[in-house]
Amino acid sequence: SEEKKNHRENLSFTEIPHALDSQHHLPEGYRADLLLRWGDPITETDIPFHPEKLDSKSQQQRFGYNNDFIAFMPLAPNAPPNRGDMHARSRNSTRGLLCVNHEYTQPHLMFPGYNDEFSATRGVSGAHVAVEQAACGHSVVEIERGPDGWQIHLDSPYNRRITAATAMEIRGPAAGDRRLRTAEDPTGRRVLGTIGNCAGGKTPWGTVLIAEEGFGSAFQGDPEKIEDPREARNHHNFGIAPSNRNWGNYDRRFDIQVEPNEPNRFGWMVEYDPYNPASRPRKLTALGRFEHEGFTLVCKPGQAVVAYGGDDDEHQFVYRFISRGIYRPEDNVGNRELLTEGTLYAARFADNGQGEWLALRYGQGPLTEEHGFRNQADVLIDARRAAALLGATPMDRPEDVETNPHNDCTYVMLTKNKQRRKNDIDAANPRAHNTRGHVLEIAPPGTSGNRDHTSDDFRWQLFLLGGDPNAGDPAERGAYGQQSSDSISPHGWFANPDNVAFDPRGNMWIATDGCERFGFHDGLWAMATEGPLRAAPKHFFGCPQGAEVCGPEFTPDGKTLFVSVQHPAQGRSSTYDNPLHRWPDNNPKLPPRPSVLAIYRVDGKTVGS
Ligand code: FEO
Ligand code: CA
Ligand code: CA
Ligand code: CA
Repeated sequence: SEEKKNHRENLSFTEIPHALDSQHHLPEGYRADLLLRWGDPITETDIPFHPEKLDSKSQQQRFGYNNDFIAFMPLAPNAPPNRGDMHARSRNSTRGLLCVNHEYTQPHLMFPGYNDEFSATRGVSGAHVAVEQAACGHSVVEIERGPDGWQIHLDSPYNRRITAATAMEIRGPAAGDRRLRTAEDPTGRRVLGTIGNCAGGKTPWGTVLIAEEGFGSAFQGDPEKIEDPREARNHHNFGIAPSNRNWGNYDRRFDIQVEPNEPNRFGWMVEYDPYNPASRPRKLTALGRFEHEGFTLVCKPGQAVVAYGGDDDEHQFVYRFISRGIYRPEDNVGNRELLTEGTLYAARFADNGQGEWLALRYGQGPLTEEHGFRNQADVLIDARRAAALLGATPMDRPEDVETNPHNDCTYVMLTKNKQRRKNDIDAANPRAHNTRGHVLEIAPPGTSGNRDHTSDDFRWQLFLLGGDPNAGDPAERGAYGQQSSDSISPHGWFANPDNVAFDPRGNMWIATDGCERFGFHDGLWAMATEGPLRAAPKHFFGCPQGAEVCGPEFTPDGKTLFVSVQHPAQGRSSTYDNPLHRWPDNNPKLPPRPSVLAIYRVDGKTVGS
């Protein structure tokens, strides 16, 4: 039909095949500029990158490790630097700040000769740990598109590194609580650094949100030896164990036997202003503490801000936050307080397609002293326990949760859950031992494009089930909306949805983490969310072997797509002795390096069209 033809033209690029090799892959007619690699300087320096000679001071001036979330924040030619809202509104798509998370470090891939034997016999030096801490966090780099593609500006006053040691404020209802106080910070309101920086979000007032996800692995010590049994459970719950990495030997606050409250100062959302390089990042306790994948916003003038996020762990929950204050586009000062106060909710998905948001409010329902909650700070620090007591639905590892502005529906990426048993499946998590993941669609009340995200009720449905739609075993079979299995191309199916972005035309772009076990690379798949080709994916980008793709982000005009290629060559003990896999440099003197690519059409048209 005519409608079907229009939809084909909407995503008319030539699909790439499923593959698995040491390179990245793009459709015909596209180019990828290698924009930033681990170790690239972000300030002017003559000293080339030398992994052997890297020290913490030098790493603090260089792009960090394992790039993840990306925000492109436009730079308006005429806006003053302190007016992030004016810059963000400009929609300039050729000059801006690239704001990139650095999730975690992999010392055996970073330091030549580093392996288990090395660390056992020669010890791990404090210098290594200091480099690792400087390689975590976040980078801000000014970039510009010129006739030769995208370039970085090394002399930009905006360029900045945020690391595991950057001073930050703690804001919101849990700030100052005794469970956040430490020897170094008796106020419970100041903390050094951010770690586990996975995905994130952006605000229309020109700030960036970064999520603290797998922070537990940075802490060492034995939760069993913590006196307070509640705190012991809390630490155990976030994966803190005696066998964890050795940061605590060199930076004592990462040893829970020394500083049992330090882990309570991580696992938050962090907001900062990239347009003001001197600004202090803030940890936002109103958005709860868990393994945050990210929070993405729905901002309608004259209404409260609504934010959606996931807790990326097996049987954890999907969350919503509603600000107490009202979003007014012109109120640049007031808007900056919107995420410090409000109500956090967890989702219940009923089997009949109805859903409900359950408020995490101290004193209501089970959230009382009787269940160990002293105040709202306890409810937020132990958000997982509060959500479980309220009867929220345990999910198959919620990753990105993001709203498509075109139909105003919210999409939840559920990456996988091997712990899901036959006897605890439900309609929203329908597979036992879910290895392929799925995507849910949440529709708040209202009509397409104009829905009430503040309502406590919603409808939901399965948008897609990952996997091969032609798999013989029905338990493994993928399902893509109402598409018949033969209408999905052989390369159109994927598994393990992780990050998601919407292009300016409302197409959904899903990034995967886990396809290699099905025989092909992780990458990007694009699809419509409406119309006859709803949920029919097309394969756009493929990673080099070992890597996953994170942070897909479009410029406002949709003509550039930035992607993070994270942990190329993962799974190898050390890549310094492997001559074959050295993406992206293919230089025998350099290890594989996590890198950000800027992808665009050679003919200058919109990506994907
Ligand atoms: Fe860091 Fe949930 O991926
Ligand atoms: Ca992720
Ligand atoms: Ca993941
Ligand atoms: Ca990752």
